This record gives sequence, structure tokens and C-alpha cells, in this order.
Amino acid sequence: MKTLKTQVAIIGAGPSGLLLGQLLHNAGIQTLVLERQSADHVQGRIRAGVLEPGMVDLLREAGVSRRMDTEGLVHDGFALARDGRLTHIDLKALTGGRSVMIYGQTEVTRDLMAARAAAGATTFYEASNVQPHALKSDQPWLTFEHQGQAFRLECDYVAGCDGFHGVARQSIPPEALQVFERIYPFGWLGVLADTPPVHPELVYATHPRGFALCSMRSLTRSRYYLQVPAEESLAEWSDERFWDELKTRLPLELAEQLITGPSIEKSIAPLRSFVVEPMQYGRLFLLGDAAHIVPPTGAKGLNLAASDVSTLFRILLKVYGEGRVELLERYSAICLRRVWKAERFSWWMTSMLHQFPQADGFTQRIAESELDYFMGSEAGRKTIAENYVGLPYEAIE
Ligand code: APR
Ligand code: PHB
Repeated sequence: MKTLKTQVAIIGAGPSGLLLGQLLHNAGIQTLVLERQSADHVQGRIRAGVLEPGMVDLLREAGVSRRMDTEGLVHDGFALARDGRLTHIDLKALTGGRSVMIYGQTEVTRDLMAARAAAGATTFYEASNVQPHALKSDQPWLTFEHQGQAFRLECDYVAGCDGFHGVARQSIPPEALQVFERIYPFGWLGVLADTPPVHPELVYATHPRGFALCSMRSLTRSRYYLQVPAEESLAEWSDERFWDELKTRLPLELAEQLITGPSIEKSIAPLRSFVVEPMQYGRLFLLGDAAHIVPPTGAKGLNLAASDVSTLFRILLKVYGEGRVELLERYSAICLRRVWKAERFSWWMTSMLHQFPQADGFTQRIAESELDYFMGSEAGRKTIAENYVGLPYEAIE
């Protein structure tokens, strides 16, 4: 067995792991990233695309924003469609000047990988059997295998950035964790196509046949989603059926303008709300999808990963720089305050905009009326806008 040493061992090379790694590396704190998949596999995943200003600032701080700042699309608002009409949510006006950035998670990941490679920081791709040990001690360590060789990695802290199905959360004794979960009786069928987006801004559409979302990756690449039953099979959805159904769920003025084309990616994702408490066990910290999942309706998944990264990064800066080890105990509570507010918003947006197969007539009317109230009131639109651009990051003092 070969022994390696680092200061912060990071499990997972998704956006959480790579962004934390870059910020720590820039601050002179050593990291080593262990990723189960190949770099190509990680870069090939199509995920979210809306960045809150807080995440945009963090990417700038990490020095990985050059391409985002030239190619990303700044959106000052989005639209909600219902009953054949669009309501504009003017994010900028409603939040005192804040906007979101449209830039795919795939691109964020690619930029972070390039920066890590350029910095000469170590990443083991295709690392198997990653296993944390002695997390409650002062000297935790990980074991893993890479290209047939067994390794022992000694470190000060372990960052569990390995997503919902990762090993980090699973290595915490179940009795030390509390799980909060809600499964929704539907999923999202997503299509990526090299067609111009149907509308200059994102459109979230509610319709008696189900929710639809018109998003984009650039001015020539669109990303569309349809609510489908949870058990739906991809084989049932030809491109033609997808475009027809999307048109049905959009207001006529948009449906008429929709430019269709062959899909370059098509997938179904289940919708889930999930939070584990606490987000820490001894010297292991959970970040991003390893600790929480939101349904995609509020565009919060990637952004929550970024706020966890910011929190742990600022704590570790003070731990290594000023010996403030007592801050480590505050990580989970600080993160969870923001996580739960985003969980609430994502659950609420999902509840307002989707059709629930079991809902009775009364529940349905209450949801319609709630949405009508929020759309018709400046205070309502402000509440949606403030949450959509993202609530503030808590200061670490
Ligand atoms: N060992 C090593 N790596 C692992 C392991 C393991 N046992 N299990 C999972 N991983 C890797 C995955 O292959 C993946 O590359 O951890 C990474 C986790 O990345 P993500 O799932 O992208 O999670 P995260 O970085 O927290 O990103 C937040 O925001 O938009 C949302 O869900 C979306 O992925 C997104 C998330
Ligand atoms: C996306 O572009 O993939 C996207 C955008 C907004 C969402 C969810 C997904 O709320």
C-alpha cells in the first residue's frame, strides 16, 4: 500500500469538489481529489444551468470565471406561463439590481478541471473503493485503489463532495444522522437541442397536462423539460412526441415560435427533496448533493453546492490561518439555515407549478389561487425574485 498525505482530501470531482479544491489551492492549502469516474464521464453529464450572483462571485474569486464572463448569458428576469399568458418576473427591478447567469454546470466543471490541471493540483480519476477511516480522530485517512495500486491517503479533513450516491454520507453511522425526504410522483424529461431558445428568458409553464420549462445553454442551444409520470420510460418519447407535447403546454404565442430539431441528449430525472442533518461527522464535512437534494424547479441544486463550498472554504481559511478550530463545529448549522430556505423555495415552486396526480379539486384550486396571488402582487413577485436570485451567504466571523 502506497501512503500519500494532503491537508484536505476531497471525494468527488463534481462542481462542489472542484470549486472547493480550487479555492483552497489558491489559498495555499493542499488538496487531493478522488473521483470514481473518468474526467470524460464527468464532463459529459448534462446538468443545471442557472447560476446565482453568489455563485458567480465565488467562481470569480476562484479565478475560473473568464469563459463564463464572456460566454455566459446574464438574465435580468424570467417568465411564468399559465392560462395561455406570460407573467414577467423582473429579477433585477425586484431585487435591487441582481441578475442570474445562464452558464451550464458542464461548462463550470470543464473550467474548474482546466484550472486544477493548470495549477498542477492532483486529481485521481477512476479511483475505486474510496473509503474514509477514523473520522472522529485527529488523523483521518482514506483508502482507495487506482490503476491496480492500493493507496492510503492521510489528511487533516475530508470533504464529502461525492453527490447523492457517494460514499461519504454512507460512511457516517446512520444513528448519527437525521434524514428528511420527500419524493414527488413525477419526473422531468429533458431534451437538449441545437436550436435557438424559444424566448429570450427562461419560461416556467404550468398547464393542466403538466409543467414545462424552456431553458437554454446559449443563443443556439436550448434545454427543455416536461413533467412526466415518475415511472415513465424514455423509449415512449420520440423527439416528435416531445415537441408536440411541449407546444401543447406553452402559450400559443410561444408554441408558434418554437423551433424544433433533433435532440442531442434526452433523459428523465426523478424529483426529490432530501436533507441530512448534521452535515458533519468528526472531520468529515458533507457538501452539495452529498448532503441535500432539491427538485430542479427553483434552479437551486448547483447554487446550494456553491454556498456550502463558500462556507467550508471560509472556515478552513480561518482554521489554517488563525487556528480558529472552533468554527468547524458551526459548519453544519450555518449551511443548513440556507439549505432549508432553498429546500422550502424549491418545494414551493414545484408544488405551485406541477400537476399532482392525487390532488383533489380543493387542493388544486388553492394552488392555482396561491400562484394567482403571488403573480398579481408586487410583494409576491418580490418574494419569488429574492429567492430565485438566491438568499445571502452568512458571514463567517
Ligand atoms: N468515490 C469517488 N467519487 C465519487 C463517489 C465515490 N464513491 N461517488 C460519487 N463520486 C463522484 C461522482 O462521480 C461525481 O463526479 O462525486 C461527484 C459528485 O458530483 P455531483 O453529483 O455533480 O455533486 P456536486 O458536486 O455536489 O454538485 C451539485 O448541483 O445541479 C446540481 O445535482 C446537480 O450535480 C449537481 C449538484
Ligand atoms: C436548466 O437549464 O437545466 C434548468 C434551468 C432552470 C431550472 C432547472 C433546470 O429551474
